[in-house]
Amino acid sequence: MQLFLDSADEKQVKYWLGQGVLDGVTTNPSVLFRDGVVDPLPALESLARLTAPGVLHAEVTVPRGAELVHQGIELSQLADNIAVKVPVQTPDGAPCLAEIHELSSAGVAVNSTACLSFGQAALAAKAGASYLSILVGRIDDEGGDGAAVIRDLRRWLDDWQVDAKIIAASVRGTADVRRSMTAGAHCVTVPPAVLAKLADHKYSRHTVQQFLDDARAVAG
Ligand code: E4P
Repeated sequence: MQLFLDSADEKQVKYWLGQGVLDGVTTNPSVLFRDGVVDPLPALESLARLTAPGVLHAEVTVPRGAELVHQGIELSQLADNIAVKVPVQTPDGAPCLAEIHELSSAGVAVNSTACLSFGQAALAAKAGASYLSILVGRIDDEGGDGAAVIRDLRRWLDDWQVDAKIIAASVRGTADVRRSMTAGAHCVTVPPAVLAKLADHKYSRHTVQQFLDDARAVAG
């Protein structure tokens, strides 16, 4: 199972790489904005260098068509370890499956993002996407069950030996990470604040403090 950091903050990326738990980094335009990136291409290049040999996921910023494919190719050429995120559809409801197919056929590792249903993800896999980003938090926001979508999708991918990896994304808390991992996601992408919570437990702190205090007492 792969663990990604959902962040463009180099300090956080370095920190969690140093912990030895990261297999890659995911970004999207909102993440770049949130983390104060003003010049996306050099920032993505630098993140790709940091993340290697792990994969950096970088998202296109045009909604459809030849322009999207062109930008996807450009992003993929920033470094050898880039996966290009392509939203599964446009804001007005048109599928981006043809664009996913064209990029995948050109040898680009495509991450089909903004998937909120089994059907969208299954079609993206058919079109050739290497990664299927299931936005579990957003599914749950709407009263759906993100973990159930992952469970069904994993069964379908395995039954038909479809070579695409599920990324559980839009993770809001540690329970989402646990549910996604146990539902069969191949990868989970986690924001830094949630990853910090995942590593922490108040009672562990207390326990370790007790060990250290007693070690000092034994040493006299
Ligand atoms: C990551 O690949 C996704 O784009 C991201 O997790 C979406 O998160 P959000 O739903 O919190 O914006």
